Amino acid sequence: MLAIPASSAGKKIIIDTDPGTDDAMALMLALNSPELDVRAITVVPGNVTAQQGLENALRMISLANRCDIPVAAGAQHPLFQKLITAEFWHGKNGLANIELPPSKCKVDSRFGPDLIIEMVHAAPHEITLVPIGPLTNIALALEKDPTIVPLVKEVIIMGGSITGGNVNASAEANIYNDPEAAQIVFQAGWPLTMVGLDVGDKTLFSKKYLDQLGQTHGPMNDFIYKVAHFLIDLSAQFGSNGAPMYDPLAIGVAIDASLVKAPLMHVDVESRGEFTRGETVANRHGTVERNVLHGDRYIIEGVDKVEPNAKVCVDVDADRFLQLFVSRLRGK
Ligand code: BDR
Ligand code: CA
Repeated sequence: MLAIPASSAGKKIIIDTDPGTDDAMALMLALNSPELDVRAITVVPGNVTAQQGLENALRMISLANRCDIPVAAGAQHPLFQKLITAEFWHGKNGLANIELPPSKCKVDSRFGPDLIIEMVHAAPHEITLVPIGPLTNIALALEKDPTIVPLVKEVIIMGGSITGGNVNASAEANIYNDPEAAQIVFQAGWPLTMVGLDVGDKTLFSKKYLDQLGQTHGPMNDFIYKVAHFLIDLSAQFGSNGAPMYDPLAIGVAIDASLVKAPLMHVDVESRGEFTRGETVANRHGTVERNVLHGDRYIIEGVDKVEPNAKVCVDVDADRFLQLFVSRLRGK
């Protein structure tokens, strides 16, 4: 059984990631925030292949001088569909084409989902999972050991949207890239917060914040400056004056949940719709009509309650979050 040092301070989190430019920003925020104790990083394919993602995660923890954090490989592909990678958005190496030095850190030999299971059992009710990529690894952990559900403190997901997608009209990328895994994770019955695309779109890292980060220096500060610069330039090509901080916001919520407004809702993941596969379908009012068959027609006889399964972020104090982000990276 894995021992977790009793001396560690901060909320214990495991980040499951597909690094990824905004994943890089999220990791660096987490590693520089005293409220959080990053116990492990597990890698999932998404923005880049599993192999490239692992390489990127290792290089980043090396940059942060945190070889003590286990970094484990996980799934090689989504549960039931082909992998879709996003070098188009993240650069050909997934890290804005920035070449970090080779990692001093070594990969942990355990399989990511197994590492999650092991750590949750070693620290019952203490581990918060923060998946910021497709939900394949988390679903595999759940399928292998459903007893982790009541032992996980909380799950804070970057993914989904209740107002349309970025892949297409309906689906957000992390959910679209493994809808079956996402449905397993949303229905597991654990405390779950959805930090979706629509709330992330309110957190634009604009030139104002970039300039603040440009005034100070350090290996992580300078790396994130370059990543943010790449993202701001990319956003400008699509008519936006800043880069949405999707993955960093999930870390922000782990640091301080008061940054967001997140009412309870019941969320299902659509897996069959012709135009809506991968959509997170949220019931805002908590009820469904009860339609009962009478002869050749259904008659509505009342409404049935549906239990919420997620806190869905609908608003964010964007400036407070972006200031927090900059303050944590300045000079690091
Ligand atoms: C999500 O998809 C990825 O491209 C980002 O890293 C983020 O996790 C946004 O839809
Ligand atoms: Ca991501």
